[in-house]
Amino acid sequence: RQLPPIVNEPIRSYAPGSPERASLQARIKAMEGERPDIAVVVHGEERRSGKAVNAVSPHKHQHVTATWHHATAQDVHDAIESGKKAYKEWSEWTWEERAAVFLKAADLLAGPWRDTINAATMLGQSKNVFQSEIDAACEMTDFFRFNVQFARELYSEQPISGPGMWNQSEYRALEGFVYAVTPFNFTAIGGNLAGAPALMGNTVLWKPAASAMLSAWYTLQLLHEAGLPKGVINFLPGDPVMISDIALKHRDLAGVHFTGSTGVFNSMWNTIGTNMSSYRSYPRIVGETGGKDFMIAHASADVQAFAVGVVRGAFEYQGQKCSACSRIYVPKSIWPEVKARITAMIDEIKVGDTNDFSNFMGAVIDQRAFDRISGYLADAKQNAKVIAGGTADGSTGWFVKPTLVETTDPKYRLMCEEIFGPIVTAYVYDDAKWEETLKLVDETSPYALTGAVFAQDRSALKQAHAALRHAAGNFYINDKCTGAVVGQQPFGGARASGTNDKAGSKLNLLRWVSARTVKETF
Ligand code: ALA
Repeated sequence: RQLPPIVNEPIRSYAPGSPERASLQARIKAMEGERPDIAVVVHGEERRSGKAVNAVSPHKHQHVTATWHHATAQDVHDAIESGKKAYKEWSEWTWEERAAVFLKAADLLAGPWRDTINAATMLGQSKNVFQSEIDAACEMTDFFRFNVQFARELYSEQPISGPGMWNQSEYRALEGFVYAVTPFNFTAIGGNLAGAPALMGNTVLWKPAASAMLSAWYTLQLLHEAGLPKGVINFLPGDPVMISDIALKHRDLAGVHFTGSTGVFNSMWNTIGTNMSSYRSYPRIVGETGGKDFMIAHASADVQAFAVGVVRGAFEYQGQKCSACSRIYVPKSIWPEVKARITAMIDEIKVGDTNDFSNFMGAVIDQRAFDRISGYLADAKQNAKVIAGGTADGSTGWFVKPTLVETTDPKYRLMCEEIFGPIVTAYVYDDAKWEETLKLVDETSPYALTGAVFAQDRSALKQAHAALRHAAGNFYINDKCTGAVVGQQPFGGARASGTNDKAGSKLNLLRWVSARTVKETF
């Protein structure tokens, strides 16, 4: 069977006065009053434990968008049993039957569910309309569609056979369940971390981030509407420590699909390591963790392109992308111009309620993030030079101004530590020290997620390409370090940034199958 053509979902512009903007605005308005009471979902059954907390809008933190219930330990155990029950049928479905669920989910997302998923992401995670559209609507649709294409390629790979014998590879689902732990910053990552193992025939325990509960809830509803059978993805909002403790120590843990902090991922590895002899199979551990993403300008760089790249890379979605630009390296000769252009753009950036369609930036996700980022601002004021921005106001929403910091110390903590907020720190290097600077970029941070180099001189590009071979899993030449598109730039990094099993690629899907080789002799 041929698949429908798989292309990236076109991004809508939501131009002022357009019907698509009016429709989305109406959905946001309606959703503001809906306040769903989000349940734990085990085998299709909605359970409300009564231990409920409020979800709020980061840009209007007195506004409650939903309540959600904490899973109990019993819910977690029941979810594991439910997954086992569902596995029997689901893993026996043909891959085309499973793929049909995800192709339908993609069509629903790109069509009737588009406004809902965008409204939930804008309200719940403080994304502006464009950031939400590229994430919740387009990227999640792309994950579902492209994964089907990659799965088809994978399932069709077969060994050679010869006279009197027939060899086959069977790509079985893993024996057990996959534990998916998903972050707040991309609605699409939630759908993909739960969806990719499910597509390959696995059942999934999904622990969504507390601060993205609204969009995760709608993602689950839409998958069920698309025909996902009960128990294939069980939904467990709640205490990550309690849920992980049960899931990670369970004999049937077959895999972990994680996006979040390096510290949490490390502790999950440790738990699995100490529990190693009790599993039925070695669990597949797949994680995308932190980043300290860089952009370097060579003296030959196009100054305007670099400055725009930094502003977009560092401040879109309030710097809360794992790919966000967080440290820049600029030669002395062009620094005054780069600085002036970035500062001018920062002065123009509007920060505020992202639901009004005019603000470039919204609020950071929660009080904890606000406090952490404010701490870095205070440090910068004391130990470096704040060139632009530098203020924060958490009174009505958790707003932080886009901030440019300059340091003379390339190992200053703002050049090394992941901030996950709208602060970018610049180190100005001597033009003659290009090669030393490349070495510095490579050695400054334990992470290796994304990075970019800007130069018009091709030999400089070639040097950067070679010197930074392991410094970034996604490396951009003359472009910002964010904005990977499914099917175009498979995403992920190594070192302390994760296992680099590239989200949105066949490499990732390979982790969710266990091959059986069958040789038949005639
Ligand atoms: N895929 C996202 C980006 O590249 C994280 O920005």
